[in-house]
Amino acid sequence: MYRTDEWQALSAHRQSLADVHLRELFDRDPDRGELLGAETGGLLLDYSKNRLTAETVELLGALADRAGLAGRIEAMMSGEAVNTTENRPALHTALRRGDPPPEVREELVRMAAFAEKARAGRWNSVVNIGIGGSDLGPAMATAALCAHADTEVDVRFLSNVDGAHFQALTNDLDPAQTLFIVVSKTFTTTETLANARTARAWVAEAVGEHDASSHFAAVTANPGKAQGFGIDAGAVFAMWDWVGGRYSLGSAVGLSLMIAVGPDAFAEFLAGMHHIDEHFRTARWAENLPALLGLIGIWNRNFWDWPTYAVLPYAQELALFPAYIQQLDMESSGKSVRTDGTPTGIATGPVVWGQPGTNGQHAFHQLLHQGTDIVPVDFIGFCRPNHGLAEHHDLLMANLFAQAEALAFGAAGTDDPHRAFPGNRPSTVILADQLTPQSLGQFVALYEHKVFTQATIWGINPFDQWGVELGKTLATAIAAELTGAATPHPARDSSTRSLINRYVTLRRPVAR
Ligand code: F6P
Repeated sequence: MYRTDEWQALSAHRQSLADVHLRELFDRDPDRGELLGAETGGLLLDYSKNRLTAETVELLGALADRAGLAGRIEAMMSGEAVNTTENRPALHTALRRGDPPPEVREELVRMAAFAEKARAGRWNSVVNIGIGGSDLGPAMATAALCAHADTEVDVRFLSNVDGAHFQALTNDLDPAQTLFIVVSKTFTTTETLANARTARAWVAEAVGEHDASSHFAAVTANPGKAQGFGIDAGAVFAMWDWVGGRYSLGSAVGLSLMIAVGPDAFAEFLAGMHHIDEHFRTARWAENLPALLGLIGIWNRNFWDWPTYAVLPYAQELALFPAYIQQLDMESSGKSVRTDGTPTGIATGPVVWGQPGTNGQHAFHQLLHQGTDIVPVDFIGFCRPNHGLAEHHDLLMANLFAQAEALAFGAAGTDDPHRAFPGNRPSTVILADQLTPQSLGQFVALYEHKVFTQATIWGINPFDQWGVELGKTLATAIAAELTGAATPHPARDSSTRSLINRYVTLRRPVAR
């Protein structure tokens, strides 16, 4: 791709902008703030504070055409095996269609019946056990929609294999009143299975082996394994090979979210995603929010060489959104070879990080304003809060607008270099009416398709994650050594060997 005329044209264009300050771009065009924006379904994307012009957007659109983005979107949404290394489709968009495939519809009906029962009072608490895509999505969305939760049931998320997580999470729970939902596409993830086994023993100790099974449900593409674990077939919900873990929030992986907010709100969440799917499929690039986000991502990563970007939601309920986007983006885009196995030859996935405003302002914004690295920012905000503390919300949003303004324009007029604000630091603002199931669904699909847009330009497969496998294999071997089930690997490096030896010598079980 970097050898194409379109890429070269963008490189030359970038040179022409090298010394142009955002102040100058805004001076040149007084309507820039309105012109460099796009809107759909109540979401406004203001990308005017990026270091680009309308011409950049045109050139990026030409790059998208050169990469065949429209065709790739059709390929993904029509079920072609776009996940080439695993020879599978990536059909997460089918989960949220108005007319989903029969197996999806059937599962949604089963989920709704199960969720309604759970909400009707049999359980005080529901604990989702899963990790990665089987945790981050439902945990993020359940927190995000806390204002829409209309049940007494306390929904929690257990992910880390660290026993401290299990202990802290179950500390104040009554095992007799707790339902565990074990979410694992493969049902082989060691962390999840360790937590599930501990949960089962904890429940069985309180209610007896015989009744323990009724405290468990599962969501998996490997139902045989779930049933082997002792979970009734009637409480096993399907995932499919054709939905990737980090793209699976619209499937039964969202069961705990559905329990928290109810089936109707879950349907609105799916409708929000579907709105963006259709928008992504049909809107011109210059008006297409996910495509624009992705193309600006390419512009910042490849033409300006900025290696990270921050996602800063000015909404406390979205506290887990940066972590969710971190997996979505970094597990999808952290690749060095193209789909054909050849090196990309250009930079791919940036490091994604962030936390909610205004907290971050008192932590890392110093570096954003005056550091030597430029960090593009996505600011996310809402016009109406889900609470009645209007004064707080005005203050919160004033801070969002102020940060974007300060980053872009800085401040002139001081001779003291320590107090100088250079500005010219890019950001994008995504402003929605209110955080609702619908708008949350829009945000999730927006970033999914942003990632897809970037992957298409880079020519990489965003739907596999081979890079996580080696660590899993090594951890399994080392775990066997730690427990004495296996002898130390003779060829192990001296650092790992001596760390293991020290650990084995010093490890002491701590009494509960
Ligand atoms: O971290 C690797 C990974 O495979 C993720 O892609 C996935 O979301 C997570 O582990 C959990 O996998 P599973 O749902 O199979 O337990």
